[in-house]
Amino acid sequence: MHVRVRRGWEIPEREATPEEVFLRRRRLIAGLAAAPALLAGARLLTRPAFADAVEDPSAGLYPATQNPKYLLDRPLTAEADATSWNNFYEFGSSKDVVEEAQALPIRPWMVKIDGLVEQEIEIGIDDLLKQMPLEERLYRHRCVEAWSMAVPWSGFPLASLVAFARPTGDARYLKMTTFMNPEVAPGQQVIWYPWPYVEGLTMAEATNELAFIATGFYGKPIPKQNGAPLRLVVPWKYGFKSIKSIVQFSFVAERPVGFWEALQESEYGFWANVNPEVPHPRWSQATERQLTTDERVPTLLFNGYADYVADLYKGLENERLYA
Ligand code: MTE
Repeated sequence: MHVRVRRGWEIPEREATPEEVFLRRRRLIAGLAAAPALLAGARLLTRPAFADAVEDPSAGLYPATQNPKYLLDRPLTAEADATSWNNFYEFGSSKDVVEEAQALPIRPWMVKIDGLVEQEIEIGIDDLLKQMPLEERLYRHRCVEAWSMAVPWSGFPLASLVAFARPTGDARYLKMTTFMNPEVAPGQQVIWYPWPYVEGLTMAEATNELAFIATGFYGKPIPKQNGAPLRLVVPWKYGFKSIKSIVQFSFVAERPVGFWEALQESEYGFWANVNPEVPHPRWSQATERQLTTDERVPTLLFNGYADYVADLYKGLENERLYA
């Protein structure tokens, strides 16, 4: 059953900021920016979401038009929860990395497309956004840790980026890589992790209609803690496949080894398709805890997206598809 839910930013009128208050706040922030001595105070006053909305050059692109094909069967997760309960190990292993992630500079942000392509491309995020068809989709997201959310992503189909990249016929996998900058991302100084974060998809997965590059969240540019300025979203797989803050797309012949697979192959495999019947070695995957409602609900095969993706795995039954 598809339910049309109110979007996160469609707040009741009484909660909206009157224009005059908004402008006053803007003037105050402009004044603070000009006075470095007050920056500590400015940090408190300019909560990250507000600062991003003002400064991000892509802010005018959102909200993108919603694609009515991708709706939800459950309530939308509250924006405050989806943007404050994060996995972003570059900024620490806790779920609370909002403050730390604000250190990531997201302009300029160059994206490299290389490997088995007709011609290598290096393009800034804002130029890339001009070339891509932006839309909004409501997707479920299921973390391997058995929590889940249901959220509005904005961005473009990964298939559009693949078409833009023009891979050669030898390309079998798409390897994606996160930025590497231990000075701003203290987690990257922890030496037992195989930095930088890498993930991979087969070409068939990368061009499946569900595979999405998110650049916006809840009708605004995507916050840093959720993977700004661009991250993968593959909703039928466990969340660790959905790599954040990507700087490189490489078309390759060899299967890439992902960050978590490199760390603990027995627990995190390449395919990582959601399946309630295949437990993680240390916990059950039968149910999940939804953010916001805190309700525990049954987990669905392929996270409920079997109609779109089950065919991709025909003939691969002997692979570890669900780990
Ligand atoms: N990408 C990078 N670069 N670093 C990470 O630590 N964590 C992954 C994935 N992408 C991660 C990442 C995991 S385990 C999950 S569940 C999702 O991001 C979480 O996305 P969210 O914080 O937007 O909910």
